[in-house]
Amino acid sequence: MAQRTVHFPTTFSWGTSTSAYQIEGGGTNTDWWRFERAPNTIAVDECGDACDSWNRYEEDLDLLIEFGLDSFRLSIEWARIEPVHGEFSSDAINHYRDVLIACKLRSILPVVTLHHFTLPLWVADAGGFENPDIVGWLADYARVIGHELGEHIGIACTINEPNIVAVMGYLIGAFPPQVQDHERFVAVNTMMRRAHVAMRDALRESSGSYPIGLPLSMQEYEALPGGEERMHSMREEMEDKYLVALEDDDYVGVQCYTKIQIGPDGVVLDFPGERTEMGYLYWPQCVESTVRRAAEFTTLPIIVTENGIGTNDDEQRVRYLDEALRGLARTIDDGIDVRGYFQWSLLDNFEWTLGYAPKFGIVSVDRSTFERTPKPSAQWYAQAVANFPDGFR
Ligand code: BGC
Repeated sequence: MAQRTVHFPTTFSWGTSTSAYQIEGGGTNTDWWRFERAPNTIAVDECGDACDSWNRYEEDLDLLIEFGLDSFRLSIEWARIEPVHGEFSSDAINHYRDVLIACKLRSILPVVTLHHFTLPLWVADAGGFENPDIVGWLADYARVIGHELGEHIGIACTINEPNIVAVMGYLIGAFPPQVQDHERFVAVNTMMRRAHVAMRDALRESSGSYPIGLPLSMQEYEALPGGEERMHSMREEMEDKYLVALEDDDYVGVQCYTKIQIGPDGVVLDFPGERTEMGYLYWPQCVESTVRRAAEFTTLPIIVTENGIGTNDDEQRVRYLDEALRGLARTIDDGIDVRGYFQWSLLDNFEWTLGYAPKFGIVSVDRSTFERTPKPSAQWYAQAVANFPDGFR
């Protein structure tokens, strides 16, 4: 492949992160939409109109400007772009072009994810990530996005947290297609890495000189006595194999929320300490530890493409973000090449199987009027960005 010049933003990118299905509304042609409506589903809510960001994206972008942020991570819904195999919707492509141009008009760097958890129904019905053809299908989709929208992309993310799609969908069984099988989980992880490389290479063929990478879900892992071996093998499957496979990317995306403890029988669910609404351990230190761990595997630039907390207590959110950014500042002071931080999330949105209960947003959204109201944490984040890193040492 021809040598390609990659342009990174010249300054540290500060943003918030979102995904299409969780904020746009109306993602009807997806496996998730069907999963939420299946008899006896474990999904507690239907996504429905989400935050209506399909129509209100300019309002969302204006909020970023209000907070002094310069970057926005959003995703493109494959099911809208290619509703039927091989048929690409020019209406959907034009919509996302409008969104990206709206970013440009506001000098906001768009960080564009091509796949964030949801599959078009035709892909899910053909076996999803267990059908090897998905590698070619995702590459074709990426090629179309690259050609049609590449000139407007700031940074590209291929597949969001492929390791979470694999573990939740094929081992734990809490995401579609609700499989619980270790072999199939490992096979899907392998398929994900192949799909990522194929998508990256397809994007590289297209217009634009944006960096391309993969946002990986990472955690701080702690082995309790007797859990060491188990911890190493879990982490190897969930993280290390990916970090090794990403060496030809342009950057590594780190996404982290907490620490997990592993005992001889696996992940410990009954642990002491402060918890978040997700039931996670309150552990903002995970930003520092996961960035440091990623840096042990790679010399590529690192972008924290997601970090945040699900909580109804906005003061807890501020405390969490403050500690997270202190850790981030330490990694930068130690010379790790971190290029950006994206708080999850701009809006209170649809949190997958858990529906609308967990609140990750720095902006609340009225569920019937969709009115957006910034929380104190939004003002805090604006100040933090303006003072970073000096205010965090
Ligand atoms: C996902 C998001 C999700 C967030 C909070 C990440 O795993 O990329 O879609 O909402 O974590 O749970």
